[in-house]
Amino acid sequence: MHPVAPNGLIARYRDRLPVTDATPVISLGEGSTPLLRADRLGAQLGVELYLKLEGANPTGSFKDRGMTMALSKAAEDGAQKVVCASTGNTSASAAAYAARAGIPCLVVVPGGRVALGKLAQAQAVGATVCAIDGSFDDALRLVRELCERHPITLVNNLNPYRLEGQKTAAFEIVEELGVPDWLSLPVGNAGNITAYWQGFNEAVAAGDATDRPRLLGCQAAGAAAMLQDTDIAAPETIATAIRIGAPVRRHEAARAVQEAEGGFVAAPDEEILDWYGRIARLEGVFCEPSSATSVAGLARARAAGTVAEGERVVCVLTGHGLKDPDTATAEGAAVVRATATLAALERIALS
Ligand code: F0G
Repeated sequence: MHPVAPNGLIARYRDRLPVTDATPVISLGEGSTPLLRADRLGAQLGVELYLKLEGANPTGSFKDRGMTMALSKAAEDGAQKVVCASTGNTSASAAAYAARAGIPCLVVVPGGRVALGKLAQAQAVGATVCAIDGSFDDALRLVRELCERHPITLVNNLNPYRLEGQKTAAFEIVEELGVPDWLSLPVGNAGNITAYWQGFNEAVAAGDATDRPRLLGCQAAGAAAMLQDTDIAAPETIATAIRIGAPVRRHEAARAVQEAEGGFVAAPDEEILDWYGRIARLEGVFCEPSSATSVAGLARARAAGTVAEGERVVCVLTGHGLKDPDTATAEGAAVVRATATLAALERIALS
């Protein structure tokens, strides 16, 4: 008997996913994440703004949408081991779904460049965590070679089932809101933007929508490979989840953005951190820095006039703020220390 979570996204969208009765459903109850109207933040940007809270997924990022599919299919195919390269979230998700499936998991990450919470997640659920003295791009090249030589299943977004699962976020937006004018999201390896475009196209084909949103692909200025034709040898950004120089889905993503009459935009780290703080303070929504890139990029697109005043925009907040406690404590309000007395507390409360 395989575990079944009746409320996961495979259960919700079974007829639109490549699963059969023979597919064991490996689920942690992912998907169906909140879509919040964000008026205070939207007023600062001059748009009708909605936030898709992908940090509400079981391991705290959108990766769970792809991983329920990838691990279900891996289990169906009798996989003996799965592997991924990751800037952190993919590893946390792969490790958790592999544990749920009872399949050993190896995750390969760039040493010293993964946010603390993500590493802790993969360690906690028993994956083999390997930190290399190289970048994410190096890690991905190595795991691809590993899988060519050995019977190990790759669960990076080169695995087509990942995108199948991730496309369901577009279905949810169409069902709950309809089609926004713009969908803004952070872009690293460029899989998620490709998946959303697939999802919106399938929603049109199914008759659920009559048009598609324009896509705004947001990158960190130090890792903006999509804004140039060539890869970046040494990408650098505080947004470590998208610190990627060679996006593997580069061509699909470029085509999607072109078809969507959208664009790519780059935001410097200072602006990413500024919006990271504002999202939290204005809306009470705590996301990780990479996720805030979707709002920082939107601000840039508004300043450039690409996104017009009053347009309806969904920003995808891809990962939870708890993933990266170091940035949160450095950027957030300082802890006020006090003696354990009412007088000390009154001084603070009434100041
Ligand atoms: N936001 C977050 C929080 C991410 O973790 C990632 C990618 C992205 C956005 C970008 O998505 O790669 O599909 O364009 N994280 C991967 C990882 C690379 O290993 O966790 P993308």
